[in-house]
Amino acid sequence: MFRTMVESDLDRVLTCLSEPSVDTTTRERFVDFLRDGSYRHEWTWLALEGDTLAGLAVWWGFPDGERPLALDRLWAAVPDPVPLWAELIRKVPPPAEYHIFTQPERRHDPAITIRLAAAAEAGLTTVTERPRYEWTSASPLPARSERLTFTPADDEAFVDIFEQISVGSLDVATREGVARVGARAHAVEDVAGYRSMPGPRERWRLAHDKTGALVGCALPSANAGGPVVGYLGVVPAQRGHGYSDDLLAEITHLLAEDGAATIRADTDSTNTPMAAAFERLGYHQFALRVVAS
Ligand SMILES: CC(C)(COP(=O)(O)OP(=O)(O)OC[C@H]1O[C@@H](n2cnc3c(N)ncnc32)[C@H](O)[C@@H]1OP(=O)(O)O)[C@@H](O)C(=O)NCCC(=O)NCCS
Repeated sequence: MFRTMVESDLDRVLTCLSEPSVDTTTRERFVDFLRDGSYRHEWTWLALEGDTLAGLAVWWGFPDGERPLALDRLWAAVPDPVPLWAELIRKVPPPAEYHIFTQPERRHDPAITIRLAAAAEAGLTTVTERPRYEWTSASPLPARSERLTFTPADDEAFVDIFEQISVGSLDVATREGVARVGARAHAVEDVAGYRSMPGPRERWRLAHDKTGALVGCALPSANAGGPVVGYLGVVPAQRGHGYSDDLLAEITHLLAEDGAATIRADTDSTNTPMAAAFERLGYHQFALRVVAS
């Protein structure tokens, strides 16, 4: 039987989550996130055989969100968990993603392979590798742009520029989102998603060149783990001039001014211009995120 969690399941769910795993959710994270609304009883799916817990899927969403967005943890106590996990994953309708945080050398760990097999069986067949980058205050701040000016703007302006930037994007989630709902609706969703993050909205910037032409945008942000790059992009007509460096430098400065000692970011391994910009600006790869979508 499959059902979502109720209050009285808490002890046995926490017992499962105490086991070490390649997945993100620990017992402590579950308790914290349940409190802030990023995890919820109705987003936590259980598989039961009689009264015995056979499987578990923990989903994450924004605290102000209406639906779960990402699978954070799979657990099972059956010999072949793949069909059971696939069944559990299918309980949450698409769009859904499964994020596994690991190290490049552990990418093919059997515990990861078996989870991706279950995700694929449930329809999450696209696997994207996202190198994770980190800047720390031990590195110098990158030089700030002398060719772009940065200004705040309203949400409408950010929706407009997100829509333009999505054209020709090498980012897998952007391409999937545009294919699913169209460029405009995806831009609206994305701006709402960034607004839900704990980073200060008033730090978002549009970037213009010396002639006044719109070049791109820069959104410093934060998640539960601390400051993050958030989002940056260059409109198609302005690509190829290395403006990603100017935008990333601005984000790094804004976050550092607000006290960030560590700034994290990830990008798809296929997004080579973005990965190159991180390397040039003193960001170092510290981990790998594997995303099934
Ligand atoms: C990533 C991005 C900001 C890079 O733009 P940029 O600063 O203009 O890139 P660069 O000037 O460093 O470009 C380096 C090379 O990659 C090419 N390039 C840049 N973006 C490209 C794209 N989306 N598709 C194909 N080629 C691209 C450039 O033409 C240039 O080619 P060249 O060396 O032959 O001249 C831009 O592609 C973009 O806005 N993408 C969509 C948003 C995005 O992915 N943001 C990052 C999310 S983590």
